[in-house]
Amino acid sequence: MRKPMIAGNWKMNKTPAETKALIEDLKKLGNKNGADVVVCPMTVSLAAAAEALKGSEIHLGAQNVHFADHGAYTGECNAASLKELGVEYVIIGHSERRQYFGETDETVNQRVLAALAAGLKPIVCVGEVLNERQQGITNEIVCKQTKVALLNVGEQIENVIVAYEPVWAIGTGLTATPDQANETIAAIRGAIRDVFGDAADRVRILYGGSMNAKNAHDLMAQPEIDGGLIGGASLSAEKFDGVINF
Ligand code: 13P
Repeated sequence: MRKPMIAGNWKMNKTPAETKALIEDLKKLGNKNGADVVVCPMTVSLAAAAEALKGSEIHLGAQNVHFADHGAYTGECNAASLKELGVEYVIIGHSERRQYFGETDETVNQRVLAALAAGLKPIVCVGEVLNERQQGITNEIVCKQTKVALLNVGEQIENVIVAYEPVWAIGTGLTATPDQANETIAAIRGAIRDVFGDAADRVRILYGGSMNAKNAHDLMAQPEIDGGLIGGASLSAEKFDGVINF
């Protein structure tokens, strides 16, 4: 069985001091489903987060990583630095990165390979826009995104997490229905199976997009959904508690 994972993507929220305060509150919460709980603060808040998480079972993730080891890439951050800070997971290819910062399936793949080479576990985001769902091409879109993102990953597939985030559901209050999410995630798992065989059964695939305390239980009850990547509802301990303890 795949262990559930509940990951908070704090996006561009929480200064280092606010990060520390939220983590102190999260450390007091229960974890009745035995989920891997991950928090992904802003890059500048990672050091404060690592310090606050010492001795806790909550895992640390970053929101992006560059594909080069080092060099002239102003404003970017390399995998070795994340690793040195104690980061374990890294979100790659979030739709906001694709939309606002020009990420493509190819650069997502390069970032995935760099993360894995440094010993980080990528949380690879895929998802269709509304127009694509309305045209009935959701599965084609997400399967292509998945296959390109995972090119040349090889046996490291066991260290990859995929997050299915329909773009139309992010920050909008619209959630994919549990059936819709389950069906699309099953298609993504099928794409992973095409390339990696039975290892697909060991890859955790999360749902993300307006997931919150109210809908988490029904989403998590679906057989293909292994966890959640949570934006807004991960920004307070009270709201995140309702998802972690779905
Ligand atoms: P919301 O939960 O705010 O819709 O954000 C989802 C998301 O983008 C997580 O990466």
